[in-house]
Amino acid sequence: MENILVTGGSGFIGSHTVVELLNKGYGVIVMDNLSNSSEESLRRVEKITGKKVKFYQTDIRDREGTEKIFRENKIDAVIHFAGLKAVGESCRIPLQYYENNIGGTVTLLEVMQKFGVKKIIFSSSATVYGTPEKLPLTEDCRTGGTTNPYGSTKYFLETVLTDLYKSDNEWNVILLRYFNPVGAHESGTIGEDPKGIPNNLMPYVAQVASGKLSCIQVFGNDYDTPDGTGVRDYIHVVDLALGHIAAIEYCREPGVHVYNLGTGHGYSVLDMIHAFEKACGKTLPYKICPRRPGDIAACYACPDKAEKELHWKAKYGIEEMCASQWKWQSNNPNGYEK
Ligand code: NAD
Ligand code: UFG
Repeated sequence: MENILVTGGSGFIGSHTVVELLNKGYGVIVMDNLSNSSEESLRRVEKITGKKVKFYQTDIRDREGTEKIFRENKIDAVIHFAGLKAVGESCRIPLQYYENNIGGTVTLLEVMQKFGVKKIIFSSSATVYGTPEKLPLTEDCRTGGTTNPYGSTKYFLETVLTDLYKSDNEWNVILLRYFNPVGAHESGTIGEDPKGIPNNLMPYVAQVASGKLSCIQVFGNDYDTPDGTGVRDYIHVVDLALGHIAAIEYCREPGVHVYNLGTGHGYSVLDMIHAFEKACGKTLPYKICPRRPGDIAACYACPDKAEKELHWKAKYGIEEMCASQWKWQSNNPNGYEK
């Protein structure tokens, strides 16, 4: 079985993907600088799977440290999650975002090249579509026009990886454009653990449900959507994790392969709040606030290409997303902190 290096593997999506890789019998090596995660997530991954995880606390910008990992392990492919991801923060400290996400990825790619490892699965995002030219979004929709430095790092890195393939046709580059990942593993032992006040809707809703925060702010109810609130394509993180396994298994040939990973369904902010109320059995207080700058009205995927070519389709709905997120939140009100 192949050995996969997972950068950012102790984070939210990374830890769920490591579980699925181990369950399928892949060898897994995790590297993470723990800037936005805790090693505790990997201990819990070991509990879920009954398998050991080989972990390096190493930064992707650390060339020596990264080379050491490639020297000590036979690596067949890299799943590259490592990166900074907060949209608002990226507007305040853009240079750190460019340095970490772009600089770090370039260093990682140089090391991969040096060791002849030419298969990479990159965490891209629906954000690369900017303001959607049409809905649902298909992979051939125009990209660019990103409205914040975080989004721009994803767009630029898609270009960097495509240029790399053009220069050397042995590379196998897989760009996975995630829509809105939410939920948690069914065990309720791993999940999203945002530092400070969550920026994203569902962790915020979960913290209101657990009593940590007092009221949900709904950013705008005057969009051109069925109930006026923003519409997104929420995808269960376990489905997303399985999308990576499908990409490893089905993208065998060199090239640049691009896939949307979404469900194809758009739900509004109010739909999600009501689904969460059902999951937690409580009424959740919310208030309508002004629109959040930079937000778009609606965004959802056409997931057909992934279904056709990767034989992958999201199987969980918003009920399971909310129920699993609530299980994680209520069992771990302070995340991985004891
Ligand atoms: P996360 O913050 O939980 O995971 C990212 C991990 O990368 C963290 O564990 C962090 O410590 C690590 N990291 C950051 N910089 C690093 C560096 N220089 N060297 C080594 N490790 C480093 O975030 P996530 O939600 O799991 O996201 C994973 C990837 O998916 C990111 O690239 C993110 O941009 C992308 N993505 C996330 C979403 C989302 O809504 N969660 C949507 C689209 C794309
Ligand atoms: N929202 C609220 N209140 C909140 C937070 C969000 O009403 O407290 C609304 C937003 O206005 C939006 C929807 O909930 O309509 C979803 O917002 P999120 O912040 O959860 O997610 P975004 O769609 O804005 O962005 C997320 C990630 C990006 C990624 C994008 C597409 O944060 O990094 O999904 O993958 F690029």
